[in-house]
Amino acid sequence: MTASPQLILGIDTSCDDTGVGVVALQPDGSVQVRANRIWSQTVHATYGGVMPELASREHVERIDAVMRDALAEAGIGVSDLGAVAATSGPGLVGALLVGLMYGKGLAQGLDIPFYAAHHLEGHIFAAAGEAELTPPYLALVVSGGHTHLFDVAREGEYRLIGATRDDAAGEAFDKVARLSGLGYPGGPAISEAARSGDPKAVKFKEPMLGQRGYEFSFSGLKTAALLAHRAGAGGADLAASFQAVAIKHLLRVTRRAAADLGRSTVVVSGGVAANTALRGAFAHSGLRAIFPGQGLNTDNGAMIALAAAAAIRAGRQPGGLDDGATAYAPLANV
Ligand code: KG4
Ligand code: ZN
Repeated sequence: MTASPQLILGIDTSCDDTGVGVVALQPDGSVQVRANRIWSQTVHATYGGVMPELASREHVERIDAVMRDALAEAGIGVSDLGAVAATSGPGLVGALLVGLMYGKGLAQGLDIPFYAAHHLEGHIFAAAGEAELTPPYLALVVSGGHTHLFDVAREGEYRLIGATRDDAAGEAFDKVARLSGLGYPGGPAISEAARSGDPKAVKFKEPMLGQRGYEFSFSGLKTAALLAHRAGAGGADLAASFQAVAIKHLLRVTRRAAADLGRSTVVVSGGVAANTALRGAFAHSGLRAIFPGQGLNTDNGAMIALAAAAAIRAGRQPGGLDDGATAYAPLANV
């Protein structure tokens, strides 16, 4: 008789996506994503940004249905679950609380372990379904709220070696899309418009070229894009040129860190890692680049279950029932 996998339910309600996923942790340590359901809130579109109170309310209204969809996708019932994990931070506190309380209640009701997970560790482990994440490696998390470069020398040890000085990469994609009338969220819109544009049409200066560290900066590019737009640059050319320089910047800093620290593998995750041009650039960079699978780049619940699976497998004790929601939570050694 073969031992059955442990089924872990993961919940993320850190921002404006209600995400619930199911991951199977096999006795041999391998993991598979069995379900990944995301309800993306649309109420914020008219405001051009996320309204925290509306986000919390939508999570409350949706979470039960999203959880049931995830269980159906995995072909299991609640009683098959072996553990529940939910994001405790960082994120919008009111939004986080919905998933956290729901997850804790579910785990207590079923009398199974509950794990409080870190959102950024979730983003990194979103790639764990694609390849074994074996330290040492670099992890670049590029999303709407983060542009963080970690050095992971050992399992569970995250050293932040660089971050953005100003805007996050995804935030810059969103702002450039908005100023050129491409809509929200901007990442997919820029990516689509860039297909028919000339990446050399607008001359952008690459940020932070002279630095010794591993910091990023996107606000100068955003301002340069605004000026180019006012000077009459077309939407597609502006999108292609901005996207090209943003990727060049991300890649240059990451490669330099890899060379300095002697790392050959980089995990690239977060919403911006969905970008096809970025994936191509990293894939041909000489580094071994690992990306999350389809639907796991942007915020989701499966990545939280994957982070919990990694912790359980490594014999680490992730946070538990006592952990509260935190807006600010640096990812250090977990
Ligand atoms: O990870 P995520 O869902 O949320 C945060 O934790 O922030 O990332 C959302 C961000 C948005 O800024 C969005 O514009 C960006 O990821 N994004 C993209 C693409 N798809 C999403 N950026 C560039 N290219 C894409 N294809
Ligand atoms: Zn995120």
